[in-house]
Amino acid sequence: MQERMSQTCDVVVLLSGTGSNLQALIDSTRTGNSPVRIAAVISNRADAYGLQRARDAGIDTRALDHKAFEGREAFDAALIELIDAFNPKLVVLAGFMRILSAGFVRHYQGRLLNIHPSLLPKYKGLHTHERALEAGDTEHGCSVHFVTEELDGGPLVVQAVIPVELQDSPQSLAQRVHVQEHLIYPMAVRWFAEGRLALGEQGALLDGQLLAASGHLIRN
Ligand code: GRF
Repeated sequence: MQERMSQTCDVVVLLSGTGSNLQALIDSTRTGNSPVRIAAVISNRADAYGLQRARDAGIDTRALDHKAFEGREAFDAALIELIDAFNPKLVVLAGFMRILSAGFVRHYQGRLLNIHPSLLPKYKGLHTHERALEAGDTEHGCSVHFVTEELDGGPLVVQAVIPVELQDSPQSLAQRVHVQEHLIYPMAVRWFAEGRLALGEQGALLDGQLLAASGHLIRN
């Protein structure tokens, strides 16, 4: 166990925006003997604030503008080359606003995680907080999952559930969901880095046990 813990897991993070989830990951690597090392942060937007957070933390950054490529496959091929130069064990999507090609997803099968601001399989895609409110849901939350070719559809690793309050707006809901994201994403990444989390044929495995369809559930 100790030997496993002492090995470092290099991670590449992909993002397009403000990168608060990246920040949570960075902060988590600074405490408690973390086996996670963020080797690089890559964005399709050179002006993403997440890149600044990475630079502030002394992490390597790269920008690769998708508009400079003809088509998804060409961009994804260049992205794979860029990522693989850092030889990561895990690739973490943290608000990366691109649909990934099947080839990309297959290349990183079993070592590609995403976080989504809803209790999947509910509300795949965008505007999840608005949709949860419109539906009158009493619970909402966020999900970490392995990425497969089905958009927001891969096996779930962990979900955090929060109650929806009567006075909630999409903004207030988003804020509380974000707090949960910042807890469960570093947790899932750490599980992977410790060798506890893997993608099996039937779904996500934690400590060798098949997780429930919802993943590990955290209720608030
Ligand atoms: C998060 O809500 C995440 O669930 C989604 O994109 C957003 C990224 O937020 N995939 P941030 O850039 O980490 O603040």
